[in-house]
Amino acid sequence: MRATTAMLLRSEGYDVREAGGGEEALGALTEREADVLLTDLKMEPMDGLTLLTKALESAPKTQVIVMTAYGSIESAVEAMRRGAYDYLTKPFKEGELAHRVQKALERARLINAVELLTGDFTRRHGLASLVGRSSAMRDLTGRLARVAPSDATVLIQGESGTGKELVARAVHALSRRTEKPFVPVNCSAITESLLESELFGHARGAFTGAVKTRRGLFEEADGGTLFIDEVTETTQAFQTKLLRVLQDGEVRRVGESASIKVDVRTVAATNRDIEKEVADKRFRQDLYYRLNVVTLRVPPLRERKEDIPLLAEHFLERANARASRPHRLSPGAIDRLMTYDFPGNVRELENLVEQAAALSESDELLPEDFPLRRTPTPDGSPTVAAATLADVVDDAERKAIAGALERTPDDLGRVAETLAISPTTLWRKMKRLGLRNGGAEDPS
Ligand SMILES: Nc1ncnc2c1ncn2[C@@H]1O[C@H](COP(=O)(O)OP(=O)(O)OP(=O)(O)O)[C@@H](O)[C@H]1O
Ligand SMILES: [Mg+2]
Repeated sequence: MRATTAMLLRSEGYDVREAGGGEEALGALTEREADVLLTDLKMEPMDGLTLLTKALESAPKTQVIVMTAYGSIESAVEAMRRGAYDYLTKPFKEGELAHRVQKALERARLINAVELLTGDFTRRHGLASLVGRSSAMRDLTGRLARVAPSDATVLIQGESGTGKELVARAVHALSRRTEKPFVPVNCSAITESLLESELFGHARGAFTGAVKTRRGLFEEADGGTLFIDEVTETTQAFQTKLLRVLQDGEVRRVGESASIKVDVRTVAATNRDIEKEVADKRFRQDLYYRLNVVTLRVPPLRERKEDIPLLAEHFLERANARASRPHRLSPGAIDRLMTYDFPGNVRELENLVEQAAALSESDELLPEDFPLRRTPTPDGSPTVAAATLADVVDDAERKAIAGALERTPDDLGRVAETLAISPTTLWRKMKRLGLRNGGAEDPS
């Protein structure tokens, strides 16, 4: 019965897995979720109803279709009551089977789509968006939940890609301001004068191009939260103005003399060592004190490696929901990711998983689907985070090219010739290996 059913569904193009009993089926579901589970009710030792209940516990999105013998409709009803999506009475026709499975799949897709939407919503808000169960992450989220409800100014510190913006959004989401706007502004993205008029607004004619009076982001964020990202990337003059606004709780639009009261909670972030910036007189100490009422430190990923599998699965699930073909992570791939230091932190992991999912042709993502870059050590000698053959080859190529570049620094044509490769190949390799003309490693 199982073999025929599987064969029929495969001939319809479905990806079918078979299990010879309840335990085996549960095992298969934990390994990889299924859109549809088709099970008989009368089975030993685990009966179909128990399997149904357990399957829905571990994989609630799975649509279950139960098969019952003619005349035992009560058990089918019981199954529906316990969450089965549909039932089939045996014997059934080929067309009927395909039709029911197709309906169940449609429903599974719909649920995924809805979840994707609502999932996005939670992702943008609240603590649910912060994936990670390491003690470092739990410390962070615990502290976050405690400080969020107050109106205290929060300074978020952490390396690039660690999730500072997510943390800022969570602070807002867990505050009484959650219904009001969350307004992010990135200080490093715009010039000083633009930044001023962005934040504080400007009067008509305040400067060339100011054709209209404009409200600043402080005003836009009224009642809500203003997220000042990369706050250390500002000039002292700007810092002075920002400090005044934070102290007075009012802004003055550029080119206007009257002040406007604003009720804004400020959250700031930096990926620099802000204390050092203060010590080196690049960041105003008084502004630092003003911002640093509460500090939230977001730990780098290498200090919470136990979060890597969870995060990788999370990003893969997201990629799968968008893709026509779902992938899963092989244990080897996870091992490889665990050996890596992630200088680009969570963002780098996110990119790696998305790329691997987009490029891989097979269901399972393997170690080689994750090309990891090198992690430079403090003394500058490149170490291999995970030494695969590809890494070793890269290393040899990098040495050879760097050597040739040193000998004839300004003549890439000669360099290519020495190495017996075409100039385009040379250029491509240099780019990939992070080499610049002159042999220096490109820090980007
Ligand atoms: N704990 C986490 N759970 C899920 N996703 C995360 C987590 N941390 C970071 N991310 C994701 O990683 C990416 C980078 O996060 P984010 O932009 O918040 O980092 P950042 O610290 O602000 O980086 P930068 O300093 O470069 O601006 C985002 O896509 C974010 O959704
Ligand atoms: Mg950021």
